[in-house]
Amino acid sequence: MNAAPKIALTGIKPTGKPHIGNFLGMIRPAIDLSGRYRAFYFIADYHALTTYKDRATLQRHIYEVAATWLALGLDPGRVVFFRQSDIAEVFELTWILSCWAPKGLLNRAHAYKTAVQTNQDEGKEADEGVNAGLYNYPLLMAADILLFGSHLVPVGQDQKQHIEITRDIASSFNHRHGDIFTLPEALVGEEAKVVPGIDGRKMSKNYNNTIPIFDDPSAIRKQVMRIVTDSKSPQEPKDPDQCNVFAIYRHFAPPQAVERRLHAYRHGGLAYSDIKQELAHILAENFKPQRAAYEALLEDRAAVDRVLAQGAEQARSLARPLMSKLRRTIGID
Ligand code: ADP
Ligand code: TRP
Repeated sequence: MNAAPKIALTGIKPTGKPHIGNFLGMIRPAIDLSGRYRAFYFIADYHALTTYKDRATLQRHIYEVAATWLALGLDPGRVVFFRQSDIAEVFELTWILSCWAPKGLLNRAHAYKTAVQTNQDEGKEADEGVNAGLYNYPLLMAADILLFGSHLVPVGQDQKQHIEITRDIASSFNHRHGDIFTLPEALVGEEAKVVPGIDGRKMSKNYNNTIPIFDDPSAIRKQVMRIVTDSKSPQEPKDPDQCNVFAIYRHFAPPQAVERRLHAYRHGGLAYSDIKQELAHILAENFKPQRAAYEALLEDRAAVDRVLAQGAEQARSLARPLMSKLRRTIGID
């Protein structure tokens, strides 16, 4: 008999238009995995609430994220594709995990630590403006992962700590109560751990420095032309590994073009404006075939809702047995 296929799971927050960093760091690797793993991919809408409180904006971003996945080739016949908020068991499990997780573990989570550090640097109270949702964020994420017995979690580098926190909570629970939870592994692609944004920081919906995947070609060009570079002249040799343009270019240009550009970086003869023009063109062309599908999906929310409702039903039926077992284990049955 064949062993049951392993489970891959990942989520993305609907906090803005998905961008090239999301594509390279997570969406593309996740879609590639979906042929080999039983895949559960979802829209982490409740995670987005830690930052977003406006109905219309949140709704728009939910459909942008859903349409992006579908246009880029997620096959809902093979992938269980759903909205986190449709799975009530996730929230039940979040509470249970919170009663087993040491508080100190959450004090050490990067996002919370950064918020505290920023406050302290500005002479404010450590927790000023920090909502309890931000603090508990890693627990909700641990519940997402553990509920489905996930083995592999494709994410960008910035999410790795959350998978480690999940493993810590799961293994200490298992240690006391037997093998309830599967311990997940993060899958962080070596190639595109951290894609830089146009200002050179990590490309992120939070920093307003993104190149959205499906913006129209003129908007993509505008963003690409704004990518920060040093001020070296075309004749001067340059370090490609320090260049924010090349960090994106190398993922999309044909191999011979990459080789040619590399030579020009190292030996002189590369003008930033020139490689930026080429990059803008390549990006627009690369996503052109899927852009029409993306736009059509944005116009047909009912079709997207049907796909997500079907995914939610499948996801819930898979979540229930684990929750029953867990309730019996802890004495709530
Ligand atoms: P953002 O920082 O833009 O809000 P998310 O937190 O929604 O992105 O991330 C969705 C997924 O995309 C995560 O797995 C994350 O690690 C990955 N990701 C986000 N930005 C980048 C980036 N610049 N480079 C590589 N992966 C990224
Ligand atoms: N926190 C992730 C991010 O910001 C999104 C997410 C929520 C997630 N739940 C998850 C990713 C479970 C992987 C697995 O990108």
